Amino acid sequence: MNFQEELHSIFVEEQAIPDAFRLEKELHQREYLSNGSMHAWAGEVHTVISPVYIRTAEGLKPKVIGTYPLCSEKEAMEALDAAVQAYNNGRGEWPTMSVADRIAHVEKFTHRIIEKKNEVVKLLMWEIGKSYADSVKEFDRTVEYIYATIDALKDLDRQSSRFTIEQGIVAQVRRSPLGVVLCMGPFNYPLNETFTTLIPALIMGNTLLFKPPKHGTLLHYPLLEAFRDCFPKGVVNTIYGRGNKIIPELMKSGKINVLTLIGSSKVANELKKLHPKINRLRAILGLDAKNAAIITAQADLKLAVQETVLGALSFNGQRCTALKIIFIHRSLADEFLEQLSQAVAKLKIGMPWVEGVALTPLPEPQKPAYLKECIEDALSHGAKVVNEHGGLTAASFVYPAIVYPVNNRMKLYTEEQFGPVIPVVPFDDLEETIEYLIESTHGQQVSIFSNDEEEVAALIDPLVNQVSRVNINCQCQRGPDVFPFTGRKDSAEGTLSVVDALRSFSIRSLVASKLNESNKKLINEIIDSNSSNFLSTKYLF
Ligand code: G3H
Repeated sequence: MNFQEELHSIFVEEQAIPDAFRLEKELHQREYLSNGSMHAWAGEVHTVISPVYIRTAEGLKPKVIGTYPLCSEKEAMEALDAAVQAYNNGRGEWPTMSVADRIAHVEKFTHRIIEKKNEVVKLLMWEIGKSYADSVKEFDRTVEYIYATIDALKDLDRQSSRFTIEQGIVAQVRRSPLGVVLCMGPFNYPLNETFTTLIPALIMGNTLLFKPPKHGTLLHYPLLEAFRDCFPKGVVNTIYGRGNKIIPELMKSGKINVLTLIGSSKVANELKKLHPKINRLRAILGLDAKNAAIITAQADLKLAVQETVLGALSFNGQRCTALKIIFIHRSLADEFLEQLSQAVAKLKIGMPWVEGVALTPLPEPQKPAYLKECIEDALSHGAKVVNEHGGLTAASFVYPAIVYPVNNRMKLYTEEQFGPVIPVVPFDDLEETIEYLIESTHGQQVSIFSNDEEEVAALIDPLVNQVSRVNINCQCQRGPDVFPFTGRKDSAEGTLSVVDALRSFSIRSLVASKLNESNKKLINEIIDSNSSNFLSTKYLF
């Protein structure tokens, strides 16, 4: 069997799919959640085709796994009205509820979604081709994130339970919600990254319009009833449909107070500009990134290779934090490319359910053609694919390509490939790598590989002002989730970590009064009678 045939053979016939991972039946979603109830949908639908093709006598065939509603502007605007009404200018049940009660609602919701774990994990595998192990990890990490968020909010609330006295003024400072949040997540972490904005936005008392990502939509369907049952009417509303059709009207309405989007800076810019009063819009954005690895002459090469494989190819390179360009000191380049090629050759390729699989099919239908275009562009400017079989494609599967030497005339030098292609650039002077980061439109993270203390220190100081996280001798990554996750330039707006997200989706409000006898009495009476949820010294455990 030649390698092209081998690639085809990773796709299996329908009957060879293991029972545990088989989808019992296609999932045809014909309802959506809006204003506290599931609304039947009889209009246009989108057909979901899995990246997992099926082998047949006639060749590889795409597999339809279900459909979901393609609603129009009308349903989107109705959902917006529901969220606006539930917020009710900050007077709604949810934004005025005590923190303890809001936490109780989110806890109830979490118990409900845990019951859906198997369904969601299976859909993650079929909708975006994520391996079983990584799909389970994504689900579990999301649940852990929710619990960590609850703990962080309790902490925040405890700190806010006290009064501050300054210059004869007594004040209580708490964080209050911002209003209606439009929340859109990405296809690569459709559950986790969506929930890392949706949950903090929700728990801080905002009301939501939630649009699932284009790929990774159906997996949210099993969770809709939990949203409906665990939160007051209109607090969580879903919107389905083509983003470019339904989102502009929502933004133009001026009723969206927070835009949270994990996606491209181009889309984020266009959407923000549609808001009639941009000063009223807060944006929490996770955007484009082209994280670089800088491997100096003093690096531990074995470690650098190991981390490059993880950084560039985990989930087929489809992570915003992925290493998307590698700078290698020219003196180590040949050895590095040799070791990297060997390491890539060892990665298991296959379907998402295969144990130990590292490389799986890609969910974006246009991606294999785009990656081919990037590779061809690099070849036309003097690069080579250095690893055996690099760039070979079978349907939705693309075998990783290590491309060398990459230079500034190639797309791979600047574009975010978001797939299994590793561009490698040789350098002679570290200054070249710093210049690259200065010129780059991205500013998320960087990885430095070196064991030389002076060299590492000399890179840290300029690079912390170019990106938001400098990783030493390890790949770039978002986690642990308590660390701030942000970026400079076109890579992000606002900061997400368990604690930062709570701040991002809220604003400080304070109640202040001159400290005299009558005000003291008044404040004490309010506290003793428990008549305000804001002005309160109740302590949350
Ligand atoms: O796609 C971007 C994700 O936030 C990356 O998270 O670094 O933990 O894979 P990760």
